[in-house]
Amino acid sequence: MIKVNLSGCDSFVKDADLKNYKQKALEAYDILAAGNGAGNDFLGWKDLPDGTPEELIAQCEAVRDDWYGRGVNLVVVIGIGGSYLGARCALEALNHQFILPEDKPRIVFAGNNLSEDYLAEMMDLAERSNVACISISKSGTTTEPAVAFRIVKEHIEARYGKQEAAARIVAVTDAVKGALKTLSTQEGYRTFVVPDNVGGRFSVLTPVGLLPICVAGYDIRAMLRGAADAKKAVTVRSEDNPAIQYAAMRNLLYSELGKKVEILVSFNPRLTYLAEWWKQLFGESEGKDGKGIYPASATFTTDLHSLGQFIQDGSRCLFETTLKVEKAARSVVIGSDPQNLDQLNYLAGQHVEHCNSMAALGTKLAHIDGGVPQIEISMEKIDEYCLGEIFCFFEFACGVSAYQLGVNPFNQPGVEAYKKNMFALLRKPGYEEATKAILAKI
Ligand code: PA5
Repeated sequence: MIKVNLSGCDSFVKDADLKNYKQKALEAYDILAAGNGAGNDFLGWKDLPDGTPEELIAQCEAVRDDWYGRGVNLVVVIGIGGSYLGARCALEALNHQFILPEDKPRIVFAGNNLSEDYLAEMMDLAERSNVACISISKSGTTTEPAVAFRIVKEHIEARYGKQEAAARIVAVTDAVKGALKTLSTQEGYRTFVVPDNVGGRFSVLTPVGLLPICVAGYDIRAMLRGAADAKKAVTVRSEDNPAIQYAAMRNLLYSELGKKVEILVSFNPRLTYLAEWWKQLFGESEGKDGKGIYPASATFTTDLHSLGQFIQDGSRCLFETTLKVEKAARSVVIGSDPQNLDQLNYLAGQHVEHCNSMAALGTKLAHIDGGVPQIEISMEKIDEYCLGEIFCFFEFACGVSAYQLGVNPFNQPGVEAYKKNMFALLRKPGYEEATKAILAKI
């Protein structure tokens, strides 16, 4: 079960303030629970952990079995933002970090950038693989994934023919609208629906995340079970609810102590992409109306040798939230060396993870001394079940925290600004006036 430990903030906050902010978090929780706040037409994610139909899970498994039967050894998953980060986070957490799977397809991601080099090299791999593709876009019109999909679709059709391509391409998109939906209907692709009432960054437990995770060979039923169990804990109206505790403390640190930056830290490189997913969740949900905590991330101990100096001694605008994993999956014990030339015999017989936890404790104490409040969130281990728990925990915590901050958690008006300029510069039809205006500026 997800646990939140706020003791690393004790020396920074007053009890009365924390009580007050917990009360405010409970009021925000009531808005989320009643579904009467801003953006309340985007609350479908609350029902996913315990309301995902068996039929949908079976459809994901049917795609997996079909592609395994065809000997597919590479699946290109196309998407950006919320249509990408959940699956990427889960696979980075669950995959072996060095050895490619032999009995399951390798999953690669495209459409999350516009780099020509990236796409060209991804296609080098596609050319020497038995390839299938999942194209994900809720709107069905986002430029980055649309460009990648055009290239991958062309490749698959040229290699396998149109009929076989229709078996090797699956779309995840809106039920009725958008270019990807129209194209999929026309080409006869299997399609999965992104529900209208679930925004991109809250969509990891829809087919947006579930389908790629399932095709990669992981147990999405266990993931949903973990999410459903976490939902029981985060939907209790109590100051002990971990989502309330987290939302209350981060709002207190932001509003009373001027801590404008939160660094999500882990001591396990498997969780680097969990932080990327979390950054989008909190960044897009809270960063608006001139408000919001800037979500940053670091993987320790690696980044203690780069960002460590700033965190210890630089501008005091930071607090840290450390994601602690209680059990390592593997065991590596440090051996004894008769010569002890490296002078490491004092560690002989110790697990590497023991050194990691001492590094974590030492860092926490040092950063408290350096004026950086510490929140700790613990998950038991890294597996499908616990990832389901952490997804659900952060989504509820984010909804509560954003309402507590006084913003609509479910819109993202700021994301449009760059798109308008890009379309104007690319001379997209319909953007003629914007093109004139932007050319006058540069
Ligand atoms: O959270 C969001 O809404 C965004 O990050 C979207 O997921 C992202 O822009 C991709 O949009 P779409 O799925 O429509 O291609």
